[in-house]
Amino acid sequence: MEFSSEIGAVQRRMAQTQEGVGRRKATFEALNVAVGQQILDVGCGGGHLLKDLALSVGTDGRVVGLDPSDQQIAAATDHCQGLDNVSFSKDSATALSFSDGEFDGIASIQVLEYIDNVDSAIAEIRRILKPGGRLSTVSVLWDHWHFHGPDPVLNRRMHDAFKAHCFHQMLPLEMPAKLARHGFAGAHCTPMGFLNNSLHHNSFAYLASRLFTHFALGQGIPEEDVTSWREQLDQAESDGRFGFVSVPVLTTAIAA
Ligand SMILES: C[S@@+](CC[C@H](N)C(=O)[O-])C[C@H]1O[C@@H](n2cnc3c(N)ncnc32)[C@H](O)[C@@H]1O
Repeated sequence: MEFSSEIGAVQRRMAQTQEGVGRRKATFEALNVAVGQQILDVGCGGGHLLKDLALSVGTDGRVVGLDPSDQQIAAATDHCQGLDNVSFSKDSATALSFSDGEFDGIASIQVLEYIDNVDSAIAEIRRILKPGGRLSTVSVLWDHWHFHGPDPVLNRRMHDAFKAHCFHQMLPLEMPAKLARHGFAGAHCTPMGFLNNSLHHNSFAYLASRLFTHFALGQGIPEEDVTSWREQLDQAESDGRFGFVSVPVLTTAIAA
């Protein structure tokens, strides 16, 4: 998925929903952050987690936000203004320009599933973590990302079109074996599923429907069908039969 367009702005709004805050909190807590640590956020997006990390590690610590998207780095720089212990990198996670064992902790929220060669990214992450360093990462079980309410046939077409948005639909299920293969121990998965029944404008579901709209149009679904799907969502909401379900999964592991 291209995060350097209007989609980057929708994604940064999603990071600020209640659900976005929740997964950031879980990711942060699993890192066991301490003053003076060096922490990397892979695919830092708008820099929301980065700022929390920078405030926590103090001036003796250092946090790095990594994202290949210029637009995301610009937004993250803006968000972290005034914090001297933050720096940025535009590396891809598959080729990191950091030394072996440079970091105490690495976070990555909803990024690894977008990387075709995810094994290279995990190997690189392991290489730059100190032995005993922590990885805390969230990926989504995309096959379970589901809108309920519209006509089932149209709804299925929309969901099928969205499948092309990332390389790995069910990455959390593959993570424990991949992590063990790349030198991590103690991989642990925690599901953080949620249900939205409202399409209010700061709901995850509303922003997800904007993402779906953008993606379906790009995949060739006619505009009138996409508009009809959006109207059916609104109708389902006013009838009290709307739902949106997502199952993000927090995966944590320690560099062996
Ligand atoms: C869904 S956003 C998540 C952003 C942020 N982690 C958050 O939770 O708000 C995915 C991010 O991954 C970045 N990304 C895509 N491919 C990447 C790669 N190969 N290496 C590192 N980051 C990548 C995108 O530019 C985008 O900012």
